[in-house]
Amino acid sequence: MTLTPEPDELVLTTATARYAVVVGPGLHATLPERLTRLGLHGTLWLISDREVFPHHGPNLEAALSHAGFLVRTYLVPSGEASKSQGPLWQIYAWMIGSHVERGDVVLALGGGVVGDLAGFAAATILRGIAVVQLPTTLLAMVDAALGGKTGINHPLGKNLIGAFHQPRLVLADTQTLRTLPPRELRAGWAEVIKHGVIRDASLFETLEAHAAEFAAPERLQDPSPDYHQRLGDVIRQAAAVKVAVVSDDEREQGLRVILNYGHTLGHALETASGYGALLHGEAVAIGMHAAARMAAEMKLLAWDNVERQRRLLEAYGLPTAFPPGCDPDQILSLTLHDKKVLHQRIRWILPTAIGQVTVRDDVPDEVVRAVLTSP
Ligand SMILES: NC(=O)c1ccc[n+]([C@@H]2O[C@H](COP(=O)([O-])OP(=O)(O)OC[C@H]3O[C@@H](n4cnc5c(N)ncnc54)[C@H](O)[C@@H]3O)[C@@H](O)[C@H]2O)c1
Repeated sequence: MTLTPEPDELVLTTATARYAVVVGPGLHATLPERLTRLGLHGTLWLISDREVFPHHGPNLEAALSHAGFLVRTYLVPSGEASKSQGPLWQIYAWMIGSHVERGDVVLALGGGVVGDLAGFAAATILRGIAVVQLPTTLLAMVDAALGGKTGINHPLGKNLIGAFHQPRLVLADTQTLRTLPPRELRAGWAEVIKHGVIRDASLFETLEAHAAEFAAPERLQDPSPDYHQRLGDVIRQAAAVKVAVVSDDEREQGLRVILNYGHTLGHALETASGYGALLHGEAVAIGMHAAARMAAEMKLLAWDNVERQRRLLEAYGLPTAFPPGCDPDQILSLTLHDKKVLHQRIRWILPTAIGQVTVRDDVPDEVVRAVLTSP
């Protein structure tokens, strides 16, 4: 099928798939028509979580039923613990027990947790059925819902069981962000800023220019269509960075690694401080500031740009300093467990300008330690 993008659509193309990523306000109402255009007529298996569904599920179900679709719904508890074997097995039992067929479609309505879990269920049931991602967090709109990585956690580590399974469509209705808790929203801005730093200086500048309105969660309740249009545009611009990177490198053999900017130290910090103490986006913000300082120490980045990034992170309410009591030795040793480690050398993603990064495996331990021990 040919796919002619509309003005608010991006197209993600990989070796195995080509699909639209649509971002903007009020898009859920268009889902029935879009499914029909994609030739997706089977039963819809709507998977969501108990926080998200009451806000956004009933209207969606009603629109789909009204258009003649059969919708079955399953809710998991909200939170990372749902990305595990127990809930996955219950989803399989629900789908098999109600006679899922190869032509059916999973709809993942929620943040990254639901997207990863429902995406993995779709990837594996009956050896794979279609999935449509309906992200409801800022993080999922610009990152988790795009690119086809799905999976669950194992007791021995996060995201260790999974599959690449590209969705047939990603529909990000930015109106859903109205109900997102402000702290989750802020954590999502960290990923948006990350996309500006790694690949899009103009996105970074837009974020600087509009910090006052985008960083204020109460503005989401603003009914002004102009505001929602601007918000949709900036989220689409951030999603476009992931679309471009994944289109170039679906399986993370090259370029895709740059999406991990800020994540090496961020993951180590999340582990050291105990999962849940810091949100992922907050840990990534601290990791980005540390990576920028490392880049400056190595004379790859001007100190002015370190400050510019710090100001932007802080303008969006994000932390940049390591929490008190952090043990530099523990953090340093945790970074060695990172997935980006190749042949025992950490591959650091370091900025060289706003909008540009490089990958280096020769950062001396002293530079990392200096950043970890100074404010
Ligand atoms: N597959 C990928 O490429 C990829 C990339 C990045 C992150 N991830 C994964 O994503 C997960 C984190 O995703 P997340 O930050 O979206 O967290 P999440 O899915 O846990 O959502 C955060 C919280 O917000 C609630 N929520 C979500 N949308 C809401 C809404 N519109 N209104 C009210 N409440 C809402 C959820 O119930 C939850 O409590 C992690 O498991 C991470 O591993 C995956």
